[in-house]
Amino acid sequence: MQDINCLPLYNTLRRHVKGKSSLLASPLAPPSLPVPENAKLFAWVGDEILPREMAKVSVFDSVVQGGDSVWEGLRIYKGKVFKLEEHLDRLFDSAKALAFNNVPTREEVKAAIFKTLITNGMFDNTHIRLSLTRGKKVTSGMSPAFNRYGCTLIVLAEWKPPVYDNDNGIVLVTATTRRNSPTNLDSKIHHNNLLNNILAKVQSFATESCDHVLVESNNANVDDAIMLDKDGFVSETNATNLFMVKNGVVLTPHVDYCLPGITRATVMELVVKENFILEERNISLSEFHTSDEVWTTGTMGELSPVVKIDGRVIGEGEVGPVTRKLQSAYKKLTDDSGVPIPTYQKL
Ligand SMILES: Cc1ncc(COP(=O)(O)O)c(C=O)c1O
Repeated sequence: MQDINCLPLYNTLRRHVKGKSSLLASPLAPPSLPVPENAKLFAWVGDEILPREMAKVSVFDSVVQGGDSVWEGLRIYKGKVFKLEEHLDRLFDSAKALAFNNVPTREEVKAAIFKTLITNGMFDNTHIRLSLTRGKKVTSGMSPAFNRYGCTLIVLAEWKPPVYDNDNGIVLVTATTRRNSPTNLDSKIHHNNLLNNILAKVQSFATESCDHVLVESNNANVDDAIMLDKDGFVSETNATNLFMVKNGVVLTPHVDYCLPGITRATVMELVVKENFILEERNISLSEFHTSDEVWTTGTMGELSPVVKIDGRVIGEGEVGPVTRKLQSAYKKLTDDSGVPIPTYQKL
């Protein structure tokens, strides 16, 4: 094999890439961003913080090779990271379940989170996508034995208001794709191998081609898709946990198939605090279709009322009283609690 320092073409290319690379340029016109301010953000990758366009992982990274990575979504409210310790607990548990080696310490992950937020001046209205991959491999392949560099930490913070219409409600359809079972890929591991969810999501949204023709005929053009477990009980949506109310009782599915969401746990505590009866049990789809109220929970979207499922109007087709009460209890909790970001000064 040749010594790479004796390869003139390789060295020319390397210099070109180090300068201004057009190798990754898209053939499409630059799209507009949902939040234009995010064009100038800095992201943490590995052990450094870089401008958005320069923040990249290696083609040898495990997340590229096999979606071999774990992640958390966190939200920032009024200078504080909401449920930071709970998210870090789940991140480290997920990494342990997948037998990651050379995992950064809790203090290192926290330092990277705070540094990213402070560099971006993000102290509110911010969502963090925190990923920990098994790391870069010495050669492509599945085996964790090729992972000799340690894990790759990515902290991607963006300006992001809650993503659903929490005032008027959202619409769901039921996906044909079933939720993973613990016999194949345990939902308690919060991993980046998201194709099970993405296949369900594909059924919920409509893709438009350049000439505005719907290109996926079975797509419903709604907000998200409900996923059932192998027995046909409701598990969760492709991105959130689910709750329903019938005759004053609040119900939510077991976490056998769904992610044990941190917002789900928080809302379950609020349900009890607000003196509603709470039941965690198998729930069939027809119970959801005929319920009085339904809402989804997740860090990204908070509590989102559901007004229609598979064409059935839920309750009166508007945000119900139990949902409203819990939305306001949740808002109070996010305002009042969380881990303060160092250096943040209240105005
Ligand atoms: C499939 C799925 N369900 C539920 C949730 C909500 O979890 P949390 O409340 O911890 O944000 C998420 C968020 O990552 C998710 O990906």
